[in-house]
Parts: sequence; C-alpha cells; structure tokens
Amino acid sequence: MKRQRIFVAGEHGQVARALARCYAARGNTFACAGRSTLDIADRAAVARAVAEFRPDLVVNTAAYTDVDRAEDESDLAFRVNCNGAGNLAAAARTAKAPIIHVSTDYVFDGTKQQAYVEADATNPLGAYGRSKLAGEQAVAAEAPAHVILRTSWVYSPDGSNFVLTMLRLARERDEIAVVDDQWGAPTSAADLAGTIATIGDVVLAASDRPRLYGIYHAAGTGETSRCCFARAVMTGSAAQGGPACRIRAITMDEYPTRAKRPANSRLDCSKLANIFGLKLPHWAASLDICIARLRAQGAI
Ligand SMILES: NC(=O)c1ccc[n+]([C@@H]2O[C@H](COP(=O)([O-])OP(=O)(O)OC[C@H]3O[C@@H](n4cnc5c(N)ncnc54)[C@H](OP(=O)(O)O)[C@@H]3O)[C@@H](O)[C@H]2O)c1
Repeated sequence: MKRQRIFVAGEHGQVARALARCYAARGNTFACAGRSTLDIADRAAVARAVAEFRPDLVVNTAAYTDVDRAEDESDLAFRVNCNGAGNLAAAARTAKAPIIHVSTDYVFDGTKQQAYVEADATNPLGAYGRSKLAGEQAVAAEAPAHVILRTSWVYSPDGSNFVLTMLRLARERDEIAVVDDQWGAPTSAADLAGTIATIGDVVLAASDRPRLYGIYHAAGTGETSRCCFARAVMTGSAAQGGPACRIRAITMDEYPTRAKRPANSRLDCSKLANIFGLKLPHWAASLDICIARLRAQGAI
C-alpha cells in the first residue's frame, strides 16, 4: 500500500496527542495542526492547509470541549464544533480524502434505559452537545466519505480529564463527592487513537469504501457510574503508591452544573465490531495502564 499521508486537526488535545504517538510509532507521514497554527473555523485557511499537505486521510480531533462554558459561549462552540468540522470535511472532499471525525455521547439526552445505538434519536441537553450534533451534520453534508466516531468520557495521562482531576483532588482532600447517577464508559485516548488509525487503514485499503462510511459508536468496553469510576481511580492509584481518598456517592441534583449532562451515556458499539471488527479494551484495564504510565512518569 502507498505510504499514507494523514492530516490531523488538533495538536495538544488528548486524542490528538495519542494519535500523534500512534502514527509516529507506525511510521506514518502525518501533520497535526493545533489552534496556534490553524483555526479550523477559518474556512480559507483550512482549505489551504489541507490542500498543501495533500492528505490521503483527514482526522478531526479538534473541538471546543468545555461543556459548562459552552452554555455562555455557544457562538464560539458552534464556530469550532460545527463550522470548523464542516470546513475540514469540505477540504477533505476537495483533496479526495475521507475524513474521520470525532463526536460525542452528549448528542443524546440520556433518557434511554439501554445503551444508545447509532440510529437512536438525538436530543442534546446543552450547547456543547448541540454544537457537536451540528458538526456531525456539517461533516455529513460536506463530505459523503466520512466516518463519524461518537465516544465518551475520554481520559489520558496528559491533558484535562476526570482521572487527573480526581488524582489532583485526592492530594488535597480526604473525601471527594462524585455523582453516582451518571452512567457511561470511560474511553482511553490511546485506545481511541488506535481505533482511528485502524479505521483509516481499513477505509483506505477498501475497494467498496461507501459501505464503511457513516456514524459509529466507539467507547471503552463495559460501563460504570462516575462515582465507581472515581473509586477505580483511587484503587488503582493506591495500588501504585499514588494519592487516594474516600469517594462519597451523591446525585446529580446535589451537584448542579452549568450544563446538564445525560444520565445515560452508554454507547452500544456493536456496529463498530460488525463492520470494522473493532472492540475497544475494557475501561478498567485501560485505566490501569493509564495509572501505571502516570506512575512511571513520576506524575503520581
Ligand atoms: N473529553 C471527553 O471526555 C470527550 C468525550 C466525548 C467526545 N469527545 C470528543 O473527542 C474529541 C477530542 O477530545 P479531547 O478530549 O482530545 O479534547 P481536548 O483535549 O479538549 O482537545 C481539543 C483540542 O482542539 C483544539 N481546538 C480547539 N479549538 C480549535 C480551533 N478553533 N482550531 C483548531 N483547533 C482547535 C485545541 O487546540 P490545540 O490542539 O492547539 O491544543 C484542543 O487542544 C472532540 O471532538 C471531543 O468533542 C471528548
């Protein structure tokens, strides 16, 4: 197969960094464009950057991800998450390259009792989810050659995420109150990056690409509540000699946030398994790997 050229939007984000590590290890030719060099909301700049790179594949990991702040900055959230995603898709189409675009469980309202499948009705609860849903629609409208991956509860050893927040608070407090009525699947950025890389390989090698295009759910295997996730972080950290404290279960009503979160974020990932033969590792196993990495780096 011809050596792939991959254009990644996003540079310092959790998934972008994991993807860069993954592509570097595989010896791919790739470029990561972060906010300092490319504002994805600038259509002309995106068109120029993608055309100059001549990619075989475009991956969009860049997004406005501050869920609470998006309530007050919804214009900016839409500019990045909808217009930016659409700009990248249009540039990918012009370059005759498929696009893999990362989306979110927050397109759903969380009222379903079972895990969500791709065909379920969307109904975002907040501005972030609405902007990401609009982004999915913009990508699909601009580029028929797209794979949209909805993921959930992303964490990594770097960046800003729930695992690192829990470990920081564990150093400062004896107890942390965490909601026990929000269910989902933690997803390791490294696992998602590996999934994106394999999907790219499969799509680029396929003779019947259109069969592969569409929306997929791609989250860690298994499910847990935020509270149980926090307890697993503490257990894993304590086992490695890192910080740990008590976790007290509370309800979402007791912890009001600017943006409402879905109570049920569980994503049914069987379409990804059926079409691409891919299943992400169990969230608990990947959490252990993340904590071991933090320990090895001296970060805990
Ligand atoms: N974090 C989660 O729990 C979660 C859950 C579900 C879905 N997702 C989705 O997963 C994807 C990756 O998330 P993540 O956790 O890696 O996010 P992240 O760590 O917040 O990184 C997002 C990156 O997007 C880049 N960015 C923001 N605005 C930009 C703009 N105007 N132009 C260019 N780049 C811009 C940022 O700049 P730099 O690259 O320069 O730093 C940022 O680092 C996003 O689509 C997100 O919606 C995340």
